[in-house]
Amino acid sequence: MAWPATFTGISGWAPGLHDMQAAGLWGEAALVLFRRWQGEAGNEKGHDATAMVLATATAGGLPSARMVKLKSCDARGFAFYTNLGSRKAMDIRENPHAALLFDWPHVGKRVYVHGKVELVRAAEADAYFATRPKLSRIGAWASRQSQPLRHRCRLWLRIGCMVAKWATRRMSRPSFWSGFRLVPREIYFERIKETIGHPAAHPSPHHEGPAG
Ligand SMILES: Cc1cc2nc3c(=O)[nH]c(=O)nc-3n(C[C@H](O)[C@H](O)[C@H](O)COP(=O)(O)O)c2cc1C
Repeated sequence: MAWPATFTGISGWAPGLHDMQAAGLWGEAALVLFRRWQGEAGNEKGHDATAMVLATATAGGLPSARMVKLKSCDARGFAFYTNLGSRKAMDIRENPHAALLFDWPHVGKRVYVHGKVELVRAAEADAYFATRPKLSRIGAWASRQSQPLRHRCRLWLRIGCMVAKWATRRMSRPSFWSGFRLVPREIYFERIKETIGHPAAHPSPHHEGPAG
């Protein structure tokens, strides 16, 4: 189990947690709980429980945040994929510390994670790329993520070129597109106290244990 996660609740440490963490149990417990909450959030019709906010910062501390999709979550951490020329990728190269936020207000839950980000292995990125629909793979080849687009037609032109280029060949993963994995240092599970019709502004003082 690679999650050295500090597993905190709203009210901080509960009795016994230090012992459990010392015994290496909390990493496993956090993963199990995350999966349970994500499953609940994703079961609700019309909700994409893989969408998350990724916050990064430059080496100089200039922050930025954007939505990305969680593509896998296991004992190693949280993996997502992107263009390596994007702002987020450049930030991560300069400063590997990053944070994730999963916001699931429809089930009254949020999860905050922070940790260090590492590049996934090439073979893992290749395997994931191969599972993507053809249009998404073409998009990965054609997109210059985070670069200003002077004319939309330039993007369509690049897409057309890529469709032609890969019409008869097996499409490989672009060298400028890959995955990152955030290895959690700390995970914070938050239950949102519901008021009538709206999630409360203040979280409930509830500690979420593995049975939560
Ligand atoms: C719901 C949602 C999911 C997204 N998932 C991804 C993703 O998995 N990877 C990605 O590179 N961009 C994704 N995007 C686009 C990013 O939010 C962002 O606009 C783009 O990656 C450029 O970000 P950057 O310039 O800060 O690096 C997603 C956008 C939305 C709205």
